[in-house]
Amino acid sequence: MSELFDSYRSSYSEAVEGSIRFSGLRHDFFLRAKAELLRRLVLEQDLRRAGAGVRALDVGCGVGSLHPHLADVFDRLDGCDVSKESLVRASAENPHVAYSVCTTSRLPYADGMFDLAFASCVVHHVPPASWLGFIREMRRVVRRGGLGCIIEHNPYNPLTRMAVLRCPFDKDAVLLRAGKAASLLEQAGFRDVHCEHFLLLPSAKPLARKLEGALAWLPLGAQYACVARA
Ligand SMILES: C[S@@+](CC[C@H](N)C(=O)[O-])C[C@H]1O[C@@H](n2cnc3c(N)ncnc32)[C@H](O)[C@@H]1O
Repeated sequence: MSELFDSYRSSYSEAVEGSIRFSGLRHDFFLRAKAELLRRLVLEQDLRRAGAGVRALDVGCGVGSLHPHLADVFDRLDGCDVSKESLVRASAENPHVAYSVCTTSRLPYADGMFDLAFASCVVHHVPPASWLGFIREMRRVVRRGGLGCIIEHNPYNPLTRMAVLRCPFDKDAVLLRAGKAASLLEQAGFRDVHCEHFLLLPSAKPLARKLEGALAWLPLGAQYACVARA
């Protein structure tokens, strides 16, 4: 896996853009939607402890495409990935983020270090036999009362399926339903799991965002986020 994404160090965004071009949307539209979701979690889920800032971990952060959009969301952001080459680019472009190489079985962080650990479009690249271990590690590094968040492609959305088929690094991807992600979060020791679908409407206008929020319970959006309490 590390070798696969090492080879996309310079061309990751171009590969994503190529796979979604048919939709008329840009990669940036997806990144902004995810950043907004994470910003909302910090505000609505009471993540900020009295006197302390919010420290978050992006597991499988790749080249750090999401990180410029998160500059004012967390007080401290860490990112880790199995792809050393991706992290070289991420560090050069995001000096405010602390990056570490991780292996598939153990994250290089102490227990309970983070208020939030999230993984965006990573689990479908992890072999299914390792899914639970991967999410258990996320649980281990989140403090009690903090949050875990899995953001994934929605396999029920036909446009998502088409994008995955067109994406050169998704050849071995195994997509998982929101129900499966929720069950893995529970088995890993998280509780109060809540899943919402997003990226349904191709517009960033406030009305479209509001309508999308009202329909988030339907498994229609291109992606979903399952959020759970540690
Ligand atoms: C499709 S990219 C997503 C990158 C980033 N999260 C984003 O949303 O732009 C998947 C990333 O997951 C990483 N990855 C795959 N398996 C992993 C694992 N077990 N632990 C950490 N990272 C992993 C890959 O190296 C790759 O950078």
